[in-house]
Amino acid sequence: MSLHADLEVFQQKYKKKIEEIMTGYVDEKSLPSTIRESMMYSLKAGGKRIRPILLLAVIEGYGKDPVLGMRTAAALEMIHTYSLIHDDLPSMDDDDLRRGKPTNHKVFGEAMAILAGDGLLTLSFQILTEDPLLLNEQKVNLVALLAKCAGAEGMVGGQVADIEGEDKTLTVEELESIHVRKTGRLLVFSALAGAIISGATQKEQTQLENYAYHIGLAFQIQDDILDIEGDEELIGKPVGSDESKKKSTYPGLLTMAGAKDKLHYHLDEALQSLNGLEMDVSLLKQISHLIVNRNH
Ligand code: IPE
Ligand code: IPE
Ligand code: MG
Ligand code: MG
Ligand code: MG
Repeated sequence: MSLHADLEVFQQKYKKKIEEIMTGYVDEKSLPSTIRESMMYSLKAGGKRIRPILLLAVIEGYGKDPVLGMRTAAALEMIHTYSLIHDDLPSMDDDDLRRGKPTNHKVFGEAMAILAGDGLLTLSFQILTEDPLLLNEQKVNLVALLAKCAGAEGMVGGQVADIEGEDKTLTVEELESIHVRKTGRLLVFSALAGAIISGATQKEQTQLENYAYHIGLAFQIQDDILDIEGDEELIGKPVGSDESKKKSTYPGLLTMAGAKDKLHYHLDEALQSLNGLEMDVSLLKQISHLIVNRNH
């Protein structure tokens, strides 16, 4: 694609492909029919696919073929989908609506929802290691990074702190540490995986990690804002879920105006981090603006 590619065109081109890779992969495996249905239900439920799009946009920005990142992108979206299935469980956020549809456990029951999450998590590493387009060394680096970003050091650890923070007043630093881990780390993986696949230098990787840190935080701050100001039809999940679970959120801690200031601070920092990168950053700029201005 040409310089200064348009994000909407890019998304249209790749969103469907990511879904096809994920569902095609599940289809070709011999799985018990219940878990296949339950996994497929959540994989096909829609979603913005922002993490895979970011990963592929980094590769595009380096002038490489995004097809190289397709399997890694699918692996990442499988992990994200599992995290949502588990996040909605009665023992966690206890939500009934996701991506405009009844949550996985509402349709398949809790046991099957837990297992569908487990299945997607493990399948993500399988699809990554079976990637025919990447070098073994790249795959080892990607597996190690994905495990670190998604596991107890990263997203899972953030979810733990999120649950333990219910009903408490946290400091902004504590809340930031939750958001950075529960949401930020998978976005950091998106950017770094794109860089690894493109063969970017360590220096470029560090800069992209900084960019992703800020858009990750911005992403969750906007999620907290939409939990209050969003339209249920558009966000496809219940408005007011955080309030009902007494979660600590940015608007709760800083007021709505304060949360919006922080959101724009992180947007500015993210955009700054792109300066001097040896790649076309136009898609990454558009992604930052999308994250901050989104209504779903
Ligand atoms: C929701 O993520 C969970 C958070 C980390 C805030 P998304 O807003 O990316 O959800 P989908 O994939 O578009 O449904
Ligand atoms: C969840 O944060 C982050 C995950 C790791 C799934 P939220 O609990 O705020 O996400 P939503 O609002 O339910 O999508
Ligand atoms: Mg949650
Ligand atoms: Mg939730
Ligand atoms: Mg939320």
